[in-house]
Amino acid sequence: MSLIKIDDLCAFYGKAQALSNVSLHVEPGETIAIVGANGAGKSTLLDCIMGLVKTTGQITLDGEDITGRKPGYMVRAGIGYAPERFNLFPHMTVRDNLLVGAYTARDDIDKNMEAVHRLFPRLAEREAQETSTQSGGERQMVSLGRALMSSPKILLVDEPTIGLAPKVCAEIAEVLKRLSAELGLTVIITEQNANFALSLASRLYVLEGGHVTATGTAEELAKDDQLAKSYFGA
Ligand SMILES: Nc1ncnc2c1ncn2[C@@H]1O[C@H](COP(=O)(O)OP(=O)(O)O)[C@@H](O)[C@H]1O
Ligand SMILES: [Mg+2]
Repeated sequence: MSLIKIDDLCAFYGKAQALSNVSLHVEPGETIAIVGANGAGKSTLLDCIMGLVKTTGQITLDGEDITGRKPGYMVRAGIGYAPERFNLFPHMTVRDNLLVGAYTARDDIDKNMEAVHRLFPRLAEREAQETSTQSGGERQMVSLGRALMSSPKILLVDEPTIGLAPKVCAEIAEVLKRLSAELGLTVIITEQNANFALSLASRLYVLEGGHVTATGTAEELAKDDQLAKSYFGA
């Protein structure tokens, strides 16, 4: 059974339609990527899964219909979210920002904190630093770490490489690979950088103007010359 299955999802901001009949599935342990330009609807799609934006259509998690549930329910059900602009508390320490993610998983704090420190040794070294004084890459790490503090089954990661230097992107990619390989996590990432997405994901969905216009493995999508030109710099 798919861990997440989405059927015919539509989302509106007022009268403007941001998502049109989006359908996708993610299998347990799989990493998939949603690739699309600015404004394609990537963040909206993740917000819908998280219960932050109202939708029509259906979202199931492990076979349970979770359509229309509130964000708190989604977190307890096992969905972790590292959103686009991190939403960290700038004047709180790294440690306290991580603890914010733990409010639904109090019993797992020690275990999860240890896992986060293993994945991001730099966060262990800088536990007491305010996040306002951190680099973009470090804040991305805190954001991913905070999502992991809720003991998720599936992690939603919105544009993890936006604004980061290539070396830092590579570091983030390594960590995302380990999440899947070592923790068995299922991951959905969104990306404008299709090559980064290709290095991580087994399958991709191309989102254009709120529609899924193509889907397949990297190999399958690379065969489509137009797509390859638009998204893979071929
Ligand atoms: N809070 C909002 N209110 C109104 N329109 C929005 C809002 N958020 C996003 N949109 C619109 O929805 C569309 C998809 O946006 P978004 O999901 O942020 O795309 P992406 O993450 O791919 O850049 C865009 O046209 C954007 O302007
Ligand atoms: Mg976005």
